[in-house]
Amino acid sequence: MVMLDIYTIGDEVLREKGDRVTKFDPSLAILIDAMYETLEEADGIGLAAPQVGISKRFFIVDTRRPGERIAFFNPEIVEMSHEVGMYEEGCLSIPGVYYDIERPLKVTVQAQDVTGKAFQLEADGILARVIQHEYDHLEGILFVDRMEEGARERLLKAYDKKHRKERKR
Ligand code: NI
Repeated sequence: MVMLDIYTIGDEVLREKGDRVTKFDPSLAILIDAMYETLEEADGIGLAAPQVGISKRFFIVDTRRPGERIAFFNPEIVEMSHEVGMYEEGCLSIPGVYYDIERPLKVTVQAQDVTGKAFQLEADGILARVIQHEYDHLEGILFVDRMEEGARERLLKAYDKKHRKERKR
């Protein structure tokens, strides 16, 4: 089993805008398998390439529901519902921090699969939520950026205090 290191807030790669994937060779499938294993081990439901130190535009999701284990390459959110909802999010790159974030309830995504084949998907529920969260990672955006400033400062202060010893300098 290959476990990948998960980069955490403060690591510069999480703030970069990922490059498009242009080469769909078989090594990509091996990397995706390692990402799924890492995701499962970390008990998460989504993992984006920048979180494993790769500044490229792809992510995986696995909600543990049938048909919801999907890899998205070069994704574009082409439609989102006007209807929004609140849902408590967390992020493997900011362990221990959870907060209600408002987002559209439904999205339509166009992307490529691991072989480069184009597909389109309409998502709602938890799948729509995780797709938007992971898509943000490709733009260098973390879910804490979507909180009100006061809540963000308070939670990140507590996070820093807890993780000070482990943080990279
Ligand atoms: Ni995240």
